[in-house]
Amino acid sequence: MRVFLIGFMGSGKTHWGTQLASKLQIPFFDLDELISKGENKSIAEIFSESGEEYFRMRERETLSSIIEEYPSVVLSTGGGTPCFFNNIEKMKKYGIVVWLNTDVEIILQRLMKEKEKRPLIRDIPDEELKTYIIRKLNKRRMYYELANVVLDNESDISTNAFIQTIIHA
Ligand code: S3P
Repeated sequence: MRVFLIGFMGSGKTHWGTQLASKLQIPFFDLDELISKGENKSIAEIFSESGEEYFRMRERETLSSIIEEYPSVVLSTGGGTPCFFNNIEKMKKYGIVVWLNTDVEIILQRLMKEKEKRPLIRDIPDEELKTYIIRKLNKRRMYYELANVVLDNESDISTNAFIQTIIHA
């Protein structure tokens, strides 16, 4: 079983990914972390030194490698992963795609604390961040909605409920 967690930055993909993988006893990977390790640079450095287009290529290639190598895996993707190339179709073809449809206010609270490591938002003033999130989310929603499973308000559910929903999907 391959499970791909998708959703906006700060939606809880990495948190839930690690919980799920440990429950299912299968490997967990974070796509950003793999790209970062492969390049020996932070995501912010990759964006500033090589540009977003380069990052998106690495993202697509790394996603493909994980699919090829691991028949059982939980992968936490980046917020933009399903929105580029045919990544969403590929994830659906080879596994279950779960969208964490987290509330904008919760995303905002989380991202306020972690702007630095995220190149798309690091230069956005705090007072403009909510508008940015709403706009970007509206553009990306059409991709996120293609997920096989949608989990609304993940912060309200227990770990067990989360895992059961996915196992029974
Ligand atoms: C991005 C989200 C980031 C990372 C990169 C671009 C995006 O991942 O892939 O900064 O386009 O939304 P997280 O969703 O893990 O923050």
